Amino acid sequence: MDEFHTVAKTADVPEGEGRAFSVAGRAVAVFRRDGQFHAINDICPHMGASLATGAFEGDQVFCPWHAWRFCVVDGQWLDNPNATLKTDCYEVRVVGDEIQVGLPGDPQPAPSEQD
Ligand code: FES
Repeated sequence: MDEFHTVAKTADVPEGEGRAFSVAGRAVAVFRRDGQFHAINDICPHMGASLATGAFEGDQVFCPWHAWRFCVVDGQWLDNPNATLKTDCYEVRVVGDEIQVGLPGDPQPAPSEQD
């Protein structure tokens, strides 16, 4: 089950731009378009560039290193929509002036056989 974490104030992510945040041990890229916020894994699955620093147009962000394109709404790799490659996409909510991102909780530990 996802846990929501405050990553920033709404004013920290300007309209039409992205910003990278570190939260709960994850690098999260938050984008703002038409007043809506979207969040994906900030680490490009190709070679690890920060996607938050890439050019952001419509619902797509261009990786700053090799220009692979990802949808900020669902994480889909747009250069080959038939591929299964995606980056993680996170639920976003705004509470007051805070942007909160839903991140998967820690996996449940396996039951011990010695209990
Ligand atoms: S590191 Fe993102 S496309 Fe290469």
